[in-house]
Amino acid sequence: GRVLLAYSGGLDTSCILAWLIEEGYEVYAFMADVGQEEDYDAAREKALKVGAKKFVLQDLKREFVEELIYPAIQANCIYENVYLLGTSLARPVIARGMMEVAAQEGCDFVSHGCTGKGNDQVRFELAFYGLKPDIKVVAPWRIPEFYHRFAGRQALLEYAAQKQIPVRQTAAKPWSTDENMFHISYEAGILEDPNTTPPSDMWKLTESPESATNTPDQIAIEFKQGLPVKLTVLSDGNKTFTDSVDVFDVLNALGRKHGIGRIDIVENRFIGVKSRGCYETPGATILRVAHIDIEGLTLDRNVRALRDQFVTIELSRILYNGHFFTPEREFVTAAIPASQRTVNGTVKLKLYKGNVIVEGRSSEEGLYDEKESSMDELGGFEPTDTTGFIQIESIRIKKWAQANIKKGQS
Ligand code: ARG
Ligand code: SIN
Repeated sequence: GRVLLAYSGGLDTSCILAWLIEEGYEVYAFMADVGQEEDYDAAREKALKVGAKKFVLQDLKREFVEELIYPAIQANCIYENVYLLGTSLARPVIARGMMEVAAQEGCDFVSHGCTGKGNDQVRFELAFYGLKPDIKVVAPWRIPEFYHRFAGRQALLEYAAQKQIPVRQTAAKPWSTDENMFHISYEAGILEDPNTTPPSDMWKLTESPESATNTPDQIAIEFKQGLPVKLTVLSDGNKTFTDSVDVFDVLNALGRKHGIGRIDIVENRFIGVKSRGCYETPGATILRVAHIDIEGLTLDRNVRALRDQFVTIELSRILYNGHFFTPEREFVTAAIPASQRTVNGTVKLKLYKGNVIVEGRSSEEGLYDEKESSMDELGGFEPTDTTGFIQIESIRIKKWAQANIKKGQS
């Protein structure tokens, strides 16, 4: 059969490529450009050298930003209060690209190098089946003859030598990473001890807050219906960016410069094990602060509460668990535009040594009324109106207090 392999250029997927050939498959190698730092020419050369019939590279950056990252920003998605879901967000576009190429190249099988303990195997495979229910998956790290034979890095290295697979000269980093234009993740290896502080040279996408420049940057982000449509760098001659990918790239560069978006979390994987991960998410951390702020000025209180409860929490879980191509995801994301209709306006921010500091916001939406909120002016309603409001609100609170006092006496 013909198999499309999600190829990373690393040791694992290069050995898997050679092994699939040994097993009698014709292998097509697939690589997605989701904004990671990568030598694509070297990856192509290596895949072909190991024996791939063809190497297919897809640029998925715009789809990634507009179809996955933007809804997540609009809905303030976050997993377990800390993780901004960078790996989870890229998986649906990569899986969709693979299903397209599999159809084009006549591959009945797809394969990947995800381990049998992680989230990514679940995300990829549920996405494959959600798009192409008859696709056949070869997951070597869940095939006993493969994982017994290649237990440990040494076995992989020996196999690579035997198959003349070039192994990168740089010493392997003692952790595993996943990078795209939203974030980079670090897991496994020395990070498995949750009390081990990551070495300072691990962090790749951001300056450390300590060594970041002493000169802050000031920016303004304009939102239309909850989407960042314009970025102005106030501290750099009011340079302006409107293209979705450009806005993201510039925010990443600013986040990097000012040491923004480093986190360290012990998270609960979908399959039920806990896992320690470190992440850098520079640009999206800035966008998140800005978006949450503009909602304060422009979003109705009750819409916000409903959205927080049903869309933010549910969509975050759906994304994390790999349930993107599902009816519940369609249902939940359909509510996003309705929640963001009034989220229009501009937020001013200062970026400084790991911090994203809000400095002001403006909007034409008119839900905020300076007169109504003022402590110095009467406006909208009479102070005596709230006397009744407090009296009614206090009925059950007084009852509860009386009951407590009575119990205390008996
Ligand atoms: N724990 C994160 C997640 O589940 C990151 C996974 C990283 N994946 C990888 N293949 N290195 O989203
Ligand atoms: C893997 O297991 O392949 C990476 C980590 C994850 O998917 O959670």
